[in-house]
Amino acid sequence: MDVDKLLESAREMLPFAYAPYSGYRVGAALLTTEGKIFKGVNVENASLGLTMCAERVALYAAIAAGYRSFSLLALVAEGESRPLPCGACRQVLGEFSRGLRVAVAGEKGESKIFTLKELLPHPFVLQGKK
Ligand code: THU
Repeated sequence: MDVDKLLESAREMLPFAYAPYSGYRVGAALLTTEGKIFKGVNVENASLGLTMCAERVALYAAIAAGYRSFSLLALVAEGESRPLPCGACRQVLGEFSRGLRVAVAGEKGESKIFTLKELLPHPFVLQGKK
């Protein structure tokens, strides 16, 4: 799967984001190692701390469908800036795929690709596991 195609899938999700509080819409598309795509948007709440990021919505949909292994995450935000996954999302993504690549882009302009290892070099790991 082409990185630009996955970014386009994430971009197509922007209208579905629920972001009345921040006004910052985010769309995510997550590619499984089997080639299936799961999508997500940020879902905000009046109790701000209950907000869920787009990438975790996509990841949790994939997990609930039985997938556990992912190769590429595409993340697009409205506006110019490129969204980087927050620390909580990095930790949650790392639970499943340490080898994940993360492509980020604004609505226009160049994308950038990171590895999850770069973004989260030292994840929390429960002692005795993994
Ligand atoms: N947000 C995401 O959806 N993903 C990220 O990686 C960073 C932040 C959302 C959460 C909230 O709805 C809005 O962006 C502003 O923080």
